[in-house]
Amino acid sequence: MIVSAWRYLLYLYGLVFDSQCDRSHQLSASRINRTEFPLQYLGGWYFLAAAAEPGTRALDIFKVMDNGHFTVQESAEMEKLEFRASIRVKDGSCVPRKWIYLLTEERTELRTEGHPDLVTELFSCDCPGCVVLKETDNTSSRLLLYTRSQELDTDCMSDFMQKSTCEGYKEVLHLPRTQEICPPHE
Ligand SMILES: *[C@@H]1O[C@H](CO)[C@@H](O)[C@H](O)[C@H]1NC(C)=O
Ligand SMILES: *[C@@H]1O[C@H](CO)[C@@H](O)[C@H](O)[C@H]1NC(C)=O
Repeated sequence: MIVSAWRYLLYLYGLVFDSQCDRSHQLSASRINRTEFPLQYLGGWYFLAAAAEPGTRALDIFKVMDNGHFTVQESAEMEKLEFRASIRVKDGSCVPRKWIYLLTEERTELRTEGHPDLVTELFSCDCPGCVVLKETDNTSSRLLLYTRSQELDTDCMSDFMQKSTCEGYKEVLHLPRTQEICPPHE
């Protein structure tokens, strides 16, 4: 009797915790230090993974990538951040990209110069030196995981996967990262 009751409790426990996205797995910006923002995001980042709703084409542009390194700099103009990417394509070539983020009143939401329909929100994640970006335009949205170090701890990735699942972004793409990082984009 006692054993089966215990089993039943464990079963319920499993059911609740498997199916429910508790608060710790929801996207949250609560741990972003708004006093420091956006200075804590300056410097180099590695792009490790992305997630989107299955059936959308939101991850297509990443499928050619082997790895991506990004540098965030303050711009000469106030209220702007420069974002430079060195993307290693699977064929071995390096593709530089640059865009400008405009800081908004909402503080942790960014707009992109030249792309009026694109909104980028920043969220904290469960390990040191990482950030989750949510990019939404008028056709789709996706989550992107950036980290300070290439050596990603597995908890960090499982946290990202869990958050993605909770958002309904069940298609996840991990960058292969088999080739060298491209030189910084000037
Ligand atoms: C946020 O950043 C400010 C300025 O660097 C610092 O004084 C403060 O302690 C930080 N707050 C938290 C909660 O880390
Ligand atoms: C999305 O927004 C862009 C820029 O505002 C516009 O050019 C484009 O037509 C829009 N696409 C759709 C599907 O609404």
